[in-house]
Amino acid sequence: LPLALASLLLGYLLGSIPFGLLLTRAAGLGDVRKIGSGNIGATNVLRTGNRKLALATLLLDAFKGTAAVLLADAAFGAEAGLIAGFAAFLGHLFPVWLGFKGGKGVATYIGILLGLAPWMVLVFAAIWLTIAFLSRYSSLSALVATLVIPVALWILGAEKVALVLALMTIITWWKHKPNIERLILGTESKIGKKG
Ligand code: G3P
Repeated sequence: LPLALASLLLGYLLGSIPFGLLLTRAAGLGDVRKIGSGNIGATNVLRTGNRKLALATLLLDAFKGTAAVLLADAAFGAEAGLIAGFAAFLGHLFPVWLGFKGGKGVATYIGILLGLAPWMVLVFAAIWLTIAFLSRYSSLSALVATLVIPVALWILGAEKVALVLALMTIITWWKHKPNIERLILGTESKIGKKG
């Protein structure tokens, strides 16, 4: 149990670092929560017009998830990696530092996936890029990709990882509620658009 608790804490602390907010603040761009969708993720950082910061946010929000999985895995074993990955996801979405109002979890999802089932990131990327190319909606691309990943993992026999990622998919879909409503109304903003 102490190992599980240590993994939870490690994952949560890593996941709760709000890179999008920190980077945009450091760059003097103000509070990213006051523009676009109000989210602290890479898609919204891109709405500041700074592509490099958006890419940095994507990578750092992803790698904190990977780091949580790999560190806990190396220290306490595979189960601990799974726990730490899930905790990092919760840390990103519900960071204590921001009154539990965090991001939507897509970048961190990818990073955790990289730690747990690396080759699956290619599947995620292929789906995300295809939908994004066709629709220009970041949210829709993420919604479809996160739906396919747990199913694919289950089919391939990685049941435990599939279950944890299915739970993450449900939570990220729930966090995308406003996006889903905008997609249905046709008012969702397209990638790189300021609105
Ligand atoms: O990764 C988050 C994305 O799916 C939606 O971001 O800022 O358009 O709500 P945003």
